[in-house]
Amino acid sequence: MKTKILNLIKDSLNQLKLSEQISDSQLAALKIESTKDRAHGDFATNAALILAKSLHQAPRQLAEQIVAHLNSIPQISKVEIAGPGFINFFINQDYICRQIEELQQDPRSGVALTANPQTIVVDYSAPNVAKEMAVHHIRSTVIGDACVRVLEFLGNKVIRANHIGDWGTQFGMLIAYLEKKENEQGQGLDLTDFEAFYREAKLCFDEDPKFADKARQYVVQLQGGDAYCYKMWQKLVKLTMDQNIKLYQRLDVTLTDRDTMGESLYNDMLPGIVADLQQQGLAVEDQGALVVYLPEYKNKDGEPLGNIVRKSDGGYLYTTTDLACIKYRIEKLHAQRILYFTDSRQAQHLHSTWKIAKLAGYIPEWVSVEHCPFGMMLGKDGKPFKTRTGGTVKLRELLDEAEQRVEHMLEERHSTLSGEQRAQVIHNIAIGAIKYADLSKNRNTDYIFDWDQMLSFEGNTAPYLQYAYSRICSIFRKTSLKTGAVVLSSPVEEELCAKLLAFSTAVNDVAQKSLPNILCTYLYELSGLFMHFYEHCPILKDEVSPELKASRLTLCATTAQVLKLGLSLLGIQVMEQM
Ligand code: ARG
Repeated sequence: MKTKILNLIKDSLNQLKLSEQISDSQLAALKIESTKDRAHGDFATNAALILAKSLHQAPRQLAEQIVAHLNSIPQISKVEIAGPGFINFFINQDYICRQIEELQQDPRSGVALTANPQTIVVDYSAPNVAKEMAVHHIRSTVIGDACVRVLEFLGNKVIRANHIGDWGTQFGMLIAYLEKKENEQGQGLDLTDFEAFYREAKLCFDEDPKFADKARQYVVQLQGGDAYCYKMWQKLVKLTMDQNIKLYQRLDVTLTDRDTMGESLYNDMLPGIVADLQQQGLAVEDQGALVVYLPEYKNKDGEPLGNIVRKSDGGYLYTTTDLACIKYRIEKLHAQRILYFTDSRQAQHLHSTWKIAKLAGYIPEWVSVEHCPFGMMLGKDGKPFKTRTGGTVKLRELLDEAEQRVEHMLEERHSTLSGEQRAQVIHNIAIGAIKYADLSKNRNTDYIFDWDQMLSFEGNTAPYLQYAYSRICSIFRKTSLKTGAVVLSSPVEEELCAKLLAFSTAVNDVAQKSLPNILCTYLYELSGLFMHFYEHCPILKDEVSPELKASRLTLCATTAQVLKLGLSLLGIQVMEQM
């Protein structure tokens, strides 16, 4: 609708022969907003205020001219000028009713496929081998997966890239330790406690010189492609990823084995990249290392900061891998847009790497490369989220605790659910609550992990939205009446309808800004409006006319449908009964 109105304004400016005097950037800045107070119409624009100055007109006078030249369309019933020159648009009620009826029939709930589908690589989750998934990996996993779902739903070709940390000098030590463990305990090691594994490996490395020598030897062998070391390394990767995939499944995250594209994938490209950078004069030798200096990055003494792409011992670094990685994504995967969901502390690493890649000609100007950073997960005390004893919180244990808490909640509410259904409800609420708590905050800020808040049935939480959904389902269980034509009999209904029709905008905003919290806010507001409607507009009571009953049931059904679809785009499931 907003685009339609914007086009009307542009047509009007054309007719007024004012378009030539308006710059592209001014045109791009014109916005149509949904109004907060519906006494001012459904949509409003300050276009006249923005353009007045450069057109040498008074804003109100310009607004009058624009309105006089607006073509009429069936969707708009009235246009008004307000205040210093705002233009307010009132939507045709009848038109809204028909739109809602259409929405109800549409499995996409009014969200069109994008006109320009792109190939989009989404880099997310990216845990490290032989390490427990850390808190920042949970954030990346959950937020990245929601964006992936939205982009895919809009018709883009999305390539999930799980850039796992599966390479580096620590693998000599890990291989040596895996070997030791296998010698002691036999094959088929169940590596559930990575933290302990890593810690013990490090201990051996620090305290046993023979072990340390072997570890160093194994790094060299692994890098040289030695079959034994390679096999041991593969085992470590598999042990880690088998566990992570289980967690992804438990979390309803769409990542699978096939999406793993770890650091090691780019090994073969690294010498070529470095040679190319050297040849282009971008990388220079400095004390044996190869370094790229970027004038825009300085250290605290104001000296240019060097990005080492090859160490003096010949080893490559995180930057080198990421240079190869972006080249690969553009040349081999044909990415037109690349999104990196990593925590905000990696901003400088990514931006300087991309700067080098641009200078080297690896990123054509039509490829959009975007860092989607996020803040830290904090405990209720405002400090980084840790166990009571200060250790890292294991994702598996976090999910276990969530399920225990929900189980307890159901007991307190005297839930009569049992068996398979009860287990499913527990799972959906627990996982939904954890994911939604993360998704509903603007990812740019730190967020506080708070069990009581996220599991509450009140406020902007998953249980609240899931409850709204099952409440609607219960209405349909109580009646055999069917949905029917929409008639609007109160402002509450009008507001609910306007919100339903704004679903598509919310989804598209998420795709554009990679901010799932926009969709969360939308769904929360939608549920709020629905609850308001539910309290004020009786649906099945005897005094309600059959037409109004049918219309109100349509509003219920459409709300449920949008809630279900919206939550599924966030990777959260609903249930008919809870
Ligand atoms: N494995 C990294 C970490 O644990 C994240 C990788 C992000 N992606 C990338 N292309 N650098 O922090």
